[in-house]
Amino acid sequence: MNATTTYKLLDGKRCGDALKEAIAKEAAELKAQRGRAPHLAAVLVGNDGASKTYVEAKVKACEKVGFRSTLIRLPETITEDDLLARVEGLNNDPGLDGFIVQLPLPAHIDADRVIQAIDPRKDVDGFHPMNVGNMVLGLPGFLPATPSGICELLKYYHIETAGKRCVVLGRSNIVGTPMSILLSRNAYPGNCTVTLAHSRTKDLTRITREADILIVAIGKPQFVTADMVKEGAVVVDVGIHRIPDASRKSGFRLVGDVAFAGVAPKCEAISPVPGGVGPMTITSLLLNTLKAAKG
Ligand code: GUN
Repeated sequence: MNATTTYKLLDGKRCGDALKEAIAKEAAELKAQRGRAPHLAAVLVGNDGASKTYVEAKVKACEKVGFRSTLIRLPETITEDDLLARVEGLNNDPGLDGFIVQLPLPAHIDADRVIQAIDPRKDVDGFHPMNVGNMVLGLPGFLPATPSGICELLKYYHIETAGKRCVVLGRSNIVGTPMSILLSRNAYPGNCTVTLAHSRTKDLTRITREADILIVAIGKPQFVTADMVKEGAVVVDVGIHRIPDASRKSGFRLVGDVAFAGVAPKCEAISPVPGGVGPMTITSLLLNTLKAAKG
């Protein structure tokens, strides 16, 4: 079989920018109506470098669409009770439409307890069990940002999903598991036959090679190689990692969970890293915040 040489790039920056334009317009209308812009708060506990970068990007995105944003930095040593008290304060703040608590949290804090303390109406990450349950049942609620961002990306590029075989690699609560649910719904994008593969899956390459749509959220740099991908597949790469690169001034470059150079020529479409899923996750968070503001 001949290798595909031209592939469509699933450009999350372009798709995200198009959506942000529409969000900014709605935010301005909402501000004119009720006298204040949508307001998102982000809680960052500790000094994790990657988390800091993500949260700063979220705050910057708010500015871009005319939202108000508040970054709440808390020390690594904060107790669980103190963090729960801060969450309660945000739940009761009438000037705030939604907030997120950036994960991971320090090991001494039970992240599930913190997530469960967030008012589901302000849970714009869509992590609260109430929102997860609504998603599973197809009821209204907040969808988790990364999987819903991937759905927006598939929509923007008119990727056919009905009847396709989809393999989701990775079963995290925030990406793999909700992604598998969203793509099996009777909706667009959706109506896929989904396999959720993970670290205990046997014969992984045989399974990934059956995928018409392969969503990779395994958290390992360049894990998926060309031999694991079917000719003509659509590949979405959720990973983002810094790897050393002496040729760069910074000394590193960003790569995904997919070995892009080898895999891309086999694909019908593939998302790059950076500039693929990352900008879509942030755009989805803005969409959820707008929804929260509209009530
Ligand atoms: N850590 C990695 N991704 C996310 C996300 O989407 N939201 C939060 N709160 N933490 C994360």
